[in-house]
Amino acid sequence: MLANKVTVPVPEIKERKIVKPLLCGPGPCDLWPSVIEALSKPVLTPICDEFFSVLDELRAGIQYLFQTKSKLVLALSGSGHSGMETIITNLVAPGETLLIASRGIWDKRALNIAHRFGIKTEVTSVQMDQTFSLEQIERELKRVRPTALFVTHGDSSTGTVQRIEGLGELCHKYGTLLLVDTVVSIAGVPFLMDEWRVDGVYTSSQKALSGPAGISPVAFSARAEEKINKRSHQPPFYYDMKMLADQWNCYGNTRKYHHTLSAPLVWALRASFQELAKETLPKSWERHAKVTAHFHKRLQAEGFQFLVPKPEDRLVTVTTITLPRGYDYQQFSKYMRENYNILIFAGLGPTVGKALRVGIMGVNSTMEVANAVVDAMVATRNSLKKSSL
Ligand code: GLV
Repeated sequence: MLANKVTVPVPEIKERKIVKPLLCGPGPCDLWPSVIEALSKPVLTPICDEFFSVLDELRAGIQYLFQTKSKLVLALSGSGHSGMETIITNLVAPGETLLIASRGIWDKRALNIAHRFGIKTEVTSVQMDQTFSLEQIERELKRVRPTALFVTHGDSSTGTVQRIEGLGELCHKYGTLLLVDTVVSIAGVPFLMDEWRVDGVYTSSQKALSGPAGISPVAFSARAEEKINKRSHQPPFYYDMKMLADQWNCYGNTRKYHHTLSAPLVWALRASFQELAKETLPKSWERHAKVTAHFHKRLQAEGFQFLVPKPEDRLVTVTTITLPRGYDYQQFSKYMRENYNILIFAGLGPTVGKALRVGIMGVNSTMEVANAVVDAMVATRNSLKKSSL
């Protein structure tokens, strides 16, 4: 018997009670009740008819989400970073150049991925609380003539939103593909892939879609598809769009097995899309804009200051807020969690020690949640003032 060879002791994994906080950080966000229910639907094998027809439904949901008629759309098994790795490595070959528009932490990740893959990089930056002008981008495109430009639409580390309209035309003028991260903007902020001529885009499920992390929609334009079909380099196996397109039946009934998708996550994304279909994109954008306008008005009335000076640069889904001198950002968010069971985050990347990051999005984009967060922030500011300043 092998029993006496089992020398590593049985681990003690005890029952654990988890008190669910109100998730008002930059993500993950709370789940729609229908998504929670969907997570316990039966597990299907990834090669049965029913599963393939669910994948078709997801592809239709992704086309709606990004507003694209492209055929090359699917969801990756992984968090938002899998989308970043997929669009970069499928569209830019080792030795080609990626221009990165840098203002937060996510573009630094894009730089890291590009370097690991032997891609040459050029960076153009703005201050972390600002966004890029078309003039700056055009100057850089003209100078670098890169294969692709990477830009983040919503940046959850800085609370800024980059205008994407106009970038597609500029990029194409210089023979460049436009790659966009919409992880924290999609469904909360207008985004029109075909209209804005975006070539590669990805998002994730755990922000304004109010789903669990781990499944990430991606889409490619016809121009990007052509580049993929002509390429001679190999992207990582797990993120190879040619192979994934065959699994997801992007061009007909290929039904090739590539990897085992998580059925609960597939069901969850389907439920998020059902919620979005019920509400529709324009209504979802409108709800987010209205609730955040109310949230900002109340914050201002209570004397809070925004990190991002220009209102048009402020991201609707994630707000960055500065505190008066003497307050500690980590302590502030810890106090909110411990006393009000509301989770908000301190800064990340360039905003460490400089801002709080509050996410009002997805199922939590309601006046009730916005009011509860402001009330708790005011009370926290007063309590910490009395006790520690
Ligand atoms: C994660 O997306 C974060 O912004 O912290």
